[in-house]
Amino acid sequence: MVKEYINGNKDRFLAELFDWLRIPSVSADSRHKGDVRKAAEFVKEKLATAGVDKVEICETKGHPIVYAEKIINPSLPTVLVYGHYDVQPADPLNLWTSPPFEPVIKDDKIYARGSCDDKGQVYMHVKAFEIMMKNNLLSCNVKFMIEGEEEVGSDNLGTFVKENKAKLKADVILISDTALISLDHPSITTGLRGLSYMEVEVTGPNRDLHSGVYGGAVANPINVLCDMIASLHDENGRVTIPGFYDKVAELSAAEREALNRAPFNVNEYKSELGINEIKGEKGYTTLERTGVRPTLDVNGIWGGYTGEGAKTVLPSKAHAKISMRLVPNQSSAEITELFTKHFKAIAPEYVKVKVMPHHGGEPAVTPTNSKAFGAASKAFEEVWGKTPIPTRDGGSIPIVALFKRELGLDTVLMGFGLDSDAIHSPNEHYGVKNFLLGIETIVAFYKHFAK
Ligand code: BES
Ligand code: MN
Ligand code: MN
Repeated sequence: MVKEYINGNKDRFLAELFDWLRIPSVSADSRHKGDVRKAAEFVKEKLATAGVDKVEICETKGHPIVYAEKIINPSLPTVLVYGHYDVQPADPLNLWTSPPFEPVIKDDKIYARGSCDDKGQVYMHVKAFEIMMKNNLLSCNVKFMIEGEEEVGSDNLGTFVKENKAKLKADVILISDTALISLDHPSITTGLRGLSYMEVEVTGPNRDLHSGVYGGAVANPINVLCDMIASLHDENGRVTIPGFYDKVAELSAAEREALNRAPFNVNEYKSELGINEIKGEKGYTTLERTGVRPTLDVNGIWGGYTGEGAKTVLPSKAHAKISMRLVPNQSSAEITELFTKHFKAIAPEYVKVKVMPHHGGEPAVTPTNSKAFGAASKAFEEVWGKTPIPTRDGGSIPIVALFKRELGLDTVLMGFGLDSDAIHSPNEHYGVKNFLLGIETIVAFYKHFAK
């Protein structure tokens, strides 16, 4: 019945998703503030049409949160679905093979910014809900909380959650905003990394100088910044910030063995990324490096002259944005402080250094012995014919730790993307198959969860 409904309505499902994807809801860019709101209104309307009892746009200091609920019986369990309707900026635009906000299907994949992260995955939940309403299958209560600031750090969501604990009362959080190992190997994410995001500024002379007149006699802040950044890793690929690893939870031999049992082909990995060799912290596999080890990466670096042609200049300032991915039991605030202290300590006396923290988030591990995890596992078995493999993802969804802390709720991370979907990159895409199977799996989840 569910399969038939999906097949009979898939063109409409996709057409509706396309309308949503056409709205450039880039939360980071204030020029798109109106579009972000339009995307909120859009999902509000679709939830209303699908049959929720109540749906509202909740104002925050930033972009609004869409909240909806369908309470069929207060004594039944409640699932709280979380997702985000905001998207990453689309640039660099020239690298897209089709415009980011004009969705198209190529090779059975939907190409558009937000197709996988996260509109396409949120829309699976809206359509799964529609199916359950239309076919009288809904067997528990559902709440939806779809936010518009995930890609900029969910600054206002924490306040919303703290102020609306009664409204958000539920038994489990369900999120589709992560990836599967592959279409052949369904998986359920059981851990996410945390984040500390920093910006640094190194200042040398009080103005840009002629690099011939002064070069060689005055420290160049870009050269200095590069030296400082280079010193943040040692020859074994370990981060050199004192105390950085102090709180890191080391996995037992058995846990490591289980983690590395997930299918992973290093040659495919290299060829898909166009790299000749992998690189990372010595003594750990790729799955460990991205899943359970903390990291430090420069996300952007700028200064001096970067325009057309050449300009001989010794710049006054150099800048970089640096992110650190965190694992249990590191704390974002602590790591931010350790970085700040260390980065100031390694600054030579011939420059001034400013360290500015951006957003952060705590790492999270989700239980695999809960009723909800069991329901997710059975849903995958039913729809995909295979038992899903538990995996640790390297990305961050800071709200997962916050839900646990504030609401005492565990999350099931039932994501349907693929690492190769190019989220945050040009040509983001999402498989039509992932979308349709995802809807079916979500419906199956409710069935097993309510049993
Ligand atoms: N959906 C991603 C996180 C993700 C991606 C988890 C792939 C697992 C696998 C989310 O939208 C995201 O991009 N999060 C940010 C963090 C946020 C605080 C800006 C991230 O991970 O960089
Ligand atoms: Mn996301
Ligand atoms: Mn994202």
